[in-house]
Amino acid sequence: MQETSVNILAIESSCDDTSAAVLCDGKIRANIIAGQEVHRLYGGVIPELAGRAHQSNILPVVQQAMFKAGIHPEELSAIAFTRGPGLMGSLLVGAGFAKGLSISLNKPLIGVDHLQAHVSAVFIEHEHIPRPMLCLLVSGGHTQLVMVDEDNRMNLIGSTLDDAAGEALDKAAKLLGLPYPGGPHIDRLAKEGNPEAFSFATSRLADYQFSFSGIKTSLLYFLKARPPGFTEQHLPDICASFQEHVVQYLLHITRKAIKNLKPASIALSGGVSANSRLRAAFEDLAQEHSIPAYIPSFEYCTDNAAMIAMAAYQAYQHGSFSNLDVMPYARQSVVPI
Ligand code: KG4
Ligand code: ZN
Repeated sequence: MQETSVNILAIESSCDDTSAAVLCDGKIRANIIAGQEVHRLYGGVIPELAGRAHQSNILPVVQQAMFKAGIHPEELSAIAFTRGPGLMGSLLVGAGFAKGLSISLNKPLIGVDHLQAHVSAVFIEHEHIPRPMLCLLVSGGHTQLVMVDEDNRMNLIGSTLDDAAGEALDKAAKLLGLPYPGGPHIDRLAKEGNPEAFSFATSRLADYQFSFSGIKTSLLYFLKARPPGFTEQHLPDICASFQEHVVQYLLHITRKAIKNLKPASIALSGGVSANSRLRAAFEDLAQEHSIPAYIPSFEYCTDNAAMIAMAAYQAYQHGSFSNLDVMPYARQSVVPI
């Protein structure tokens, strides 16, 4: 007898990207992402505008994903969506749309934690990863170290006490007069600069805790003390040096966790894992400890619905579904990550 396929439609709308993906038997068939240019004018995400843009993007994005995957609505096994953390107005658009589809198609609903999904992104392109896997999750809103066991249970072992790594890069970029989000601009400019040109202070904390407020302040005072015109003239060197400090800081804490917790593999996820210097340095870190490193392709690093679909697929296999009264949450995950 032929086994029935598992087809999942997933929706991501936690911040300023509207995305829909279709996963069939563990493989991503479509991952459509619509960004929101409107925020560039303001140098940051405006929640009210993000909610409105999700509302106009969501239907075409879902239709495009279904069309690309070649799946009919009645063939779907479940509808997944991002519960949080994120902007409440944005989350409500995805949640409402997913609930409507779930009711009208009579398909089960799966609410997914955005941070767990960033970790699950690692499994999109690699089915068999040695466990325990230590994952460094670096995004615009979060910086965490997570241990993942054989059953995909995630255990949070460290996080940031203040800014996230992506937030620190975005704030640094703003100080340097670069457009929002600044992380990719720092990455680009750093390629032409000297990473040893300047020094910035990082905070060393106990255990596996991170803090990025110190390095941000260090850059602020550095820039204030320079003559006019200095920043423009030395922009690549400043970007390369700042980025190198952030990367080495992330690796220092990850290295400490590898030494103490002895994972069988390491993984990198979240928007900042798109950073070219971090990707290369993370591979070196794995070699240093003779363990494999897993880093998702670019399209699965920043916010995307494919990672929501993969996390939902894992939940589906455990028979873990959500009730129709499931609510989104804006702040820290309510699931134990
Ligand atoms: O995961 P993500 O798309 O959204 C959140 O869940 O926060 O991450 C966005 C973050 C932003 O801070 C952005 O500047 C950063 O990822 N980012 C990068 C790069 N691409 C995106 N940071 C450094 N280098 C990049 N190439
Ligand atoms: Zn994210």
